[in-house]
Amino acid sequence: MEKEAKSQICVSRSFAVAPMMDWTDRHCRYLHRLLSRQTLLYTEMVTAPALVRGGAVHLLDFSPEEHPVALQLGGSDPEELAQAARLGEEAGYDEINLNCGCPSDRVQSGTFGAVLMRDPGLVAECVAAMRAAVSVEVTVKCRIGVDDQTPEEVLPEFLSRVGAAGCERFTIHARKAWLQGLSPKENRDIPPLDYELVQRMRGMFGGLHLSVNGGITSLDEAERFLEAGLDGVMVGRAAYHDPTAILAQADRRIFGAEGDSDPVEVARQMLPYIERHLSEGGKLGQVTRHMLGLFAGKPGARAWRRILSEGAHKPGAGPELVQEALGAVTGVAA
Ligand SMILES: Cc1cc2nc3c(=O)[nH]c(=O)nc-3n(C[C@H](O)[C@H](O)[C@H](O)COP(=O)(O)O)c2cc1C
Repeated sequence: MEKEAKSQICVSRSFAVAPMMDWTDRHCRYLHRLLSRQTLLYTEMVTAPALVRGGAVHLLDFSPEEHPVALQLGGSDPEELAQAARLGEEAGYDEINLNCGCPSDRVQSGTFGAVLMRDPGLVAECVAAMRAAVSVEVTVKCRIGVDDQTPEEVLPEFLSRVGAAGCERFTIHARKAWLQGLSPKENRDIPPLDYELVQRMRGMFGGLHLSVNGGITSLDEAERFLEAGLDGVMVGRAAYHDPTAILAQADRRIFGAEGDSDPVEVARQMLPYIERHLSEGGKLGQVTRHMLGLFAGKPGARAWRRILSEGAHKPGAGPELVQEALGAVTGVAA
């Protein structure tokens, strides 16, 4: 079973949906999994202190259908990260990823994210402690540098030191994070992208698996990066806003598997999941908010969005609302 999960990750690691706070929760990942069986999915970042000190292990809940799925951790204390990684492995995650890329202003919850680009020695310690605690793969998501750092110097040093601690797979968001003066949102757009630097790292670090992330908005682009020799591609916002465009053909085009998924079929397959969620006391909108982009750019997309976003929060709203919205897309009463 463990072997099977490992070999699935070896396939899936070439294409991933990025970890995104408030977005890639378990409902979102369930939807993405229906669109693509192979794409690697990441959780939102969960901080190690929340798990270890706060005991918030419910943050690890996920559906078995989501595999292969990686847990992203935030933190900078090796022992705490090791304990959090262990909890993640026990919960069944296929990979544990350390966040070294997120510029966060939530200082009270401790040091984590992009600021760790300044301390590759500490990241190496964290990775070594996490690897010693779990048998699933420990990976890192990072930037090319922060603030006034020189990426051409900092990134190879980071990959080399963290690689020496046993991390063999990195996802590189190909821009700096500017920790002073930019919001997290601005930090995803304003610092310029440097894909060529990531390509050069590919040439320098033959033994590492390197995925590129940042600003990739289509499967065509993803294919071009893979053809150019990158080991993997991670897509964030585009996969969330237009999941069908990024994921429905990914199994065939990226993984060489049969068959594209049909968003109408996927919406129908969400119905039993929604029923289950409601029967457990959940709310319709918690699931449907991730489905709004399913028909982006297609006829009926506006009505689909409108029906779901206006109706999902009304008392008693249930799967019939999704069926009604589907009627607007398919042109027939579903
Ligand atoms: C709403 C949102 C939340 C994010 N949360 C995380 C996070 O928890 N961990 C992380 O490593 N990156 C996070 N990111 C960054 C993405 O993983 C990704 O690196 C970034 O969006 C660039 O990729 P893209 O241009 O394909 O969106 C977040 C991005 C967005 C839009």
